[in-house]
Amino acid sequence: MRVLGLETSCDDTGAAILDDGRLIAHVVESQDVHVTYGGVVPEYASRAHITLLPRVLEATLAKAGASLESIDAVAATVGPGLVGSLLVGLEFAKGLAMARGIPFVGVNHVEAHLVSPGLENELPYPFLGMVASGGHTEIYHVERPGSVRRLGSTRDDAAGEAFDKVGKLLGLPYPGGPHVDRLARLGRADAIDFPVAKLERGTLDVSMSGLKTAVKLFVEREPKPISEERVRDIAASAERAIVAALVERLEEALDRHPSRALAISGGCACNTLLRAEAARIAAKRGIPSLVPSPPLCRDNGAMIGYAGWLSLTRGEMTPLTVNAVPNLDSFQASNPAP
Ligand code: KG4
Ligand code: ZN
Repeated sequence: MRVLGLETSCDDTGAAILDDGRLIAHVVESQDVHVTYGGVVPEYASRAHITLLPRVLEATLAKAGASLESIDAVAATVGPGLVGSLLVGLEFAKGLAMARGIPFVGVNHVEAHLVSPGLENELPYPFLGMVASGGHTEIYHVERPGSVRRLGSTRDDAAGEAFDKVGKLLGLPYPGGPHVDRLARLGRADAIDFPVAKLERGTLDVSMSGLKTAVKLFVEREPKPISEERVRDIAASAERAIVAALVERLEEALDRHPSRALAISGGCACNTLLRAEAARIAAKRGIPSLVPSPPLCRDNGAMIGYAGWLSLTRGEMTPLTVNAVPNLDSFQASNPAP
């Protein structure tokens, strides 16, 4: 079955073609307009999707050597995300499905990140998955396809927001995550003792706001201009604190929930230290650490097509009356008691 996947939930326009869950081609266009504003401007994002989506689709078809007529089903993000952005991809996909008389499947963006390591590796069940992106930081136990239990999430900011905030405080371009990563490789992670949030015993939640405040206060107190060497040390020390908070919870989750793999996804899964730490804690337990290649960690149409294909193989389709759900949360919350 050939599936077209479309992603427009935030500021990346993505399309992909998959044959029986195998990625054939994908294209992502990131919107530069937001760099000027230091964050995503929703109105500009939806307008840019309108212009970019037909181009991205055409480029994807060309790359795959496929025609629109060869597509058997269309998958698109239903939520969570920015309502205007979601609507562009969703209505486009529904229109295509209606015109061609082929199935449509609506996809949860977070669930797509969660299963995205399956694009490049066989996902053994049960597995422990973490989605760490600009909008989400959540830990899940996936018992079998479609059976997902959320174990913990962030109490305040997402990990990506924390990286981006550190970047902003250091005067780096938006989004700051990749820049903090680059500078951290040149700095000393033990130079500054930024706090790793301590929450109550037993919880698998994380908190990032304390660290954000600590970095803000530290930067404010530093003599200006801050030297390049100091900026690298701040980047490395802040990165260490963010990653330590995530890794502590992952280790605890792995101890409590037997898993045959550790799967990390979302934009922050591009982070060099997080990738290394995930590999370390997985190896300690004799299980593989499955982390997508960087372009598939960030928002893309491939993960939407893949999650859509998994749904279709379970016989799930979505009626064309479905609307965008900006705050979609289809996963059951279940924080284990201490
Ligand atoms: O998954 P994604 O592309 O979009 C959302 O769904 O949010 O994630 C974007 C986030 C941004 O906060 C960005 O700074 C962060 O992922 N990010 C990184 C790295 N690359 C992207 N954070 C840390 N290190 C990186 N190398
Ligand atoms: Zn995302």
